[in-house]
Amino acid sequence: SQALRVGVAGLGTVGAALISQVAHRREALTARCGRGIEVVAVSARSRGKDRGFDLKKMKWFDDPVALARDASIDVFVELMGGSGGVAKAAVEAALAAGKSVVTANKALLAKHGVKLAALAEKNNVALNYEAAVGAAIPIVKTLREGLAGNEIARIYGILNGTCNYILTRMEQEGLSFADCLKDAQRLGYAEADPTFDIEGHDTAQKLSILASLAFGTKVDESAIYVEGISSIAPADLAAADELGYRVKLLGVAVKTPQGIEQRVHPTMVRKDSAIAQVMGVTNAVTVDASGINPITLIGPGAGGAATASAVLSDIADVARGLRVMPFGRPTAKLASVRKAPMQRH
Ligand code: HSE
Repeated sequence: SQALRVGVAGLGTVGAALISQVAHRREALTARCGRGIEVVAVSARSRGKDRGFDLKKMKWFDDPVALARDASIDVFVELMGGSGGVAKAAVEAALAAGKSVVTANKALLAKHGVKLAALAEKNNVALNYEAAVGAAIPIVKTLREGLAGNEIARIYGILNGTCNYILTRMEQEGLSFADCLKDAQRLGYAEADPTFDIEGHDTAQKLSILASLAFGTKVDESAIYVEGISSIAPADLAAADELGYRVKLLGVAVKTPQGIEQRVHPTMVRKDSAIAQVMGVTNAVTVDASGINPITLIGPGAGGAATASAVLSDIADVARGLRVMPFGRPTAKLASVRKAPMQRH
């Protein structure tokens, strides 16, 4: 059958890695999906920039919204970022034109996920976002499909690679917060505005998506108590160490009698716990489901290649004709969470 024609908006580290992975895995993908996958059109801020591949074979669009609704593509891949603006307009245009959408944009989903999901359902197309949480870790598919039949009591994890990288280097090398942050930016882990990472908002957006999948809450970042790591000093890590703990920035969503409680804050985790072993840019998510032992997924949580691999898995699902309801119907009540002091796990 015919190859799936992909349009990509945004050619930063993730977009460039995606184009290279599609090229390198061409035959394997065709075998796996029963049809080829081809990037036929792109849009980015600068056309002239050298990205190490030939743009001439692809149709160029200055305007991502025009690309999103263009008849030459079957699926629109949004890698521009931003919680609204052109990313939102382009995703809406693609869905309204009956094209499936793959996005890595957690900010967009955390703000408009419910509405975009409804638009996708109305138009019978997919809205896939595996890359929005935990990069290469298949946590979205695990919750949405793998654990669709389970009752979940709690989900928590290390969801920001930049913060875990900073905390790891501060702890192991005694380096200052600022130096570690600079390295995280240089390595391409941090968001364009790194306050987003270090103040916990990136973790909160990811948590809002996971909580919605796990508990049927409305995706809503504003319901989360958020505290970041910018006030943590090497001395705090040393003090925790003496007590037998490490400090990790955790996102936690838990079922309580008052509703689903969601919070993000630095947490003291026992050094012998599984989550304390997770170092560097790695992410980890633990799901406590009733009747089974906890499931923990650990893997690369940021970076171009890791994020692109999740985007590609979503494109492969579209190529295979898989279409899953993006979010469940919101049913669970949210609990309000006030200041939570440094907790121990
Ligand atoms: N800035 C994010 C992180 C990238 O550091 O985890 C992946 O969402």
